[in-house]
Amino acid sequence: MEIYDGGADASQAEQQAELQVEGVPEFAEIPEEVHAPLPVAELHLHIEGTLEPELIFALAERNGITLPYADLDELRARYEFTDLQSFLDLYYANMAVLRTEQDFADMTRAYLTRAAAAGVRHAEIMMDPQAHLSRGVSLETCVNGVASVLAGSEQEFGISTLLIAAFLRDLSEESALEVLEQLLAVNAPIVGIGLDSAEAGNPPSKFERLFARAKDAGLRRTAHAGEEGPPSYIIEALELLDVERLDHGIRCMEDSELVERLVTEHMPLTVCPLSNVRLRAVDTLAEHPLAGMLAAGLNVSVNSDDPAYFGGYVDDNFAQLKSVIGLSEFDCVRLAANSIRSSFASEERKTELLAELAASGR
Ligand code: HPA
Ligand code: ZN
Repeated sequence: MEIYDGGADASQAEQQAELQVEGVPEFAEIPEEVHAPLPVAELHLHIEGTLEPELIFALAERNGITLPYADLDELRARYEFTDLQSFLDLYYANMAVLRTEQDFADMTRAYLTRAAAAGVRHAEIMMDPQAHLSRGVSLETCVNGVASVLAGSEQEFGISTLLIAAFLRDLSEESALEVLEQLLAVNAPIVGIGLDSAEAGNPPSKFERLFARAKDAGLRRTAHAGEEGPPSYIIEALELLDVERLDHGIRCMEDSELVERLVTEHMPLTVCPLSNVRLRAVDTLAEHPLAGMLAAGLNVSVNSDDPAYFGGYVDDNFAQLKSVIGLSEFDCVRLAANSIRSSFASEERKTELLAELAASGR
């Protein structure tokens, strides 16, 4: 069955009717409390950002590492961020507990367990190989640890998964190229590359050769742009990196011509509302541009980014958007459909998940 495709002409009622499946009760007939989470694709997720405080302590103990925090409360007290860099400092520091394949596997399994409860049915997971290599952890250890769990994720958790190697934009392009070649040499099971870390002062233009090489190698391409950086970084990512998706991209709203272009190109924007509030990219959730982005016709999805640090997983993001900005059930379905359509999953998997969304009766 056909699902809403973001088209502008069909009325909301018509689109809603298209989502109905015979024999499945209409949304209004299902009591709120029995609503299962919507099936969604999570497209913007850093696996290292899923390290919950409890797991940080457990891994530190297993590896004989002394943390600079006495207990969970002391660690949690550090989760007050003033900007992206203040978060990145803690995010990289906490990676010290990840030493063995088992550590990476345990972290990945914990995320998938929680994501399944959040309704995630497909996840495209970024990892930061350079952040591990620089600590003396081999590519084999970090990639195999995560990939070994992803290989069985559909059977174990009902979540199809793809792995994306993200490159740190505050490091040199030479370093990124070197690591990309290593990943290619060992046939690492990655679907594509991403670009993350400190955005301001590290424009996409710095990584033109990296993205050209990735495209040449048949890899999919996404990049963080327009989280803290200006709209011109989004334009650079489109024109110089030939990205197929933009991570965050919220600052496009400062440039109406750019918005028009993104709408015309159906460019996916993986928006992370709770992250944007925690990193002060927006002041409050009530002022988040998501509703305006939807109204403009942008192809947006809702994602959790670094859920252990930003106060919640994908279901928490949806729940807070509903309660704070009054996001409608219709828009939630639209966001879920966008996430599935914007994924790098096979057409077959996308069709399967869109049918599942339709059958959810919302
Ligand atoms: N932005 C940029 N880089 C990151 C993030 C983020 O939110 N999380 C992990 N690396
Ligand atoms: Zn991110």
